[in-house]
Amino acid sequence: MDKTSEPKIRGLKSLRLLMEPGEYKYCACGRSKNNPFCDGSHLEATDIKPIPVMIKFKHEVKWCDCRKSKKLPFCDHSHRELPGYQPK
Ligand code: FES
Repeated sequence: MDKTSEPKIRGLKSLRLLMEPGEYKYCACGRSKNNPFCDGSHLEATDIKPIPVMIKFKHEVKWCDCRKSKKLPFCDHSHRELPGYQPK
């Protein structure tokens, strides 16, 4: 089976999480069961690699959940341009 380069859209809003300082691997393929962090699922279906992220201090992070952000792994509100998006 050919691997895809297309990330999977998980959600049409940012994923806000209070993060502790540390190193993380953002799931750029959208297939992880530990969204938004890589669990190795990309190895099976895609040629997409996780994005390493260093969080330097405790704060709320707005992770991209649609994988269309131009500022991956962070939300830039690109989800608002996708079909199915509904404003609050
Ligand atoms: S599981 Fe998605 S990048 Fe690793």
